[in-house]
Amino acid sequence: MAEELKIAVFASGKGSNLKAILDAIKERRLINTAVVCVISNKKDAGALEIAKYNNIPAYYISQSNYSNSDDFDAAIIEVLIRHSVNFIVLAGYLKLLSPRIVRKYKDRILNIHPALLPKFGGKGMYGLNVHRAVIECGEKISGATVHLVDEEYDHGPIVLQDSIELDPDETPESLQKKIQEIEHRIYPEAIKLFVEGKFIEKEIINNEY
Ligand code: GAR
Repeated sequence: MAEELKIAVFASGKGSNLKAILDAIKERRLINTAVVCVISNKKDAGALEIAKYNNIPAYYISQSNYSNSDDFDAAIIEVLIRHSVNFIVLAGYLKLLSPRIVRKYKDRILNIHPALLPKFGGKGMYGLNVHRAVIECGEKISGATVHLVDEEYDHGPIVLQDSIELDPDETPESLQKKIQEIEHRIYPEAIKLFVEGKFIEKEIINNEY
């Protein structure tokens, strides 16, 4: 049997993707998987509330509380080690992970993005900004992408994508709603591929800084 995934979810927003992952675990669509902690850079993130409601350790860790980025990274890594995290899921985390964390969890970090990458990604591309740009460019289809994370925003090998056609009267809000439904379906599916051992090759050494 493949190793159990012990996931840290990083989120800055309302946490609907976190909830979709927790639902998939509860309904046993995802087995051999646990969300062992949730980390947010926003104190009032809905994701932290969802974590607490589900008795999952929830951490607010903001760069603004540290004098330098090394100490900020160390605080995050300390939490990851404390919970024996071997996989990271970014679910609306609006901060770039440091190269140190990306390297430590190489090929074990997923991100979800509400567009068909490589289009409409990058810094500042989140929430309604993405859907506005898609509509303004006259795109006929959009969708959601799950990808492995490297050291750039919304960048790295694509794991899963699904798409929908835009309606002629599509608004950023209506598109966001449709694409979130796709996200909630494909994120657990993408994680399942890793649980089944289809992507993981290396072991994490958890006490290594
Ligand atoms: C999701 O739509 C996710 O794709 C997006 O943030 C939202 C978080 O929603 N991420 C990005 O735009 C990354 N560039 P949630 O807090 O309800 O899960």
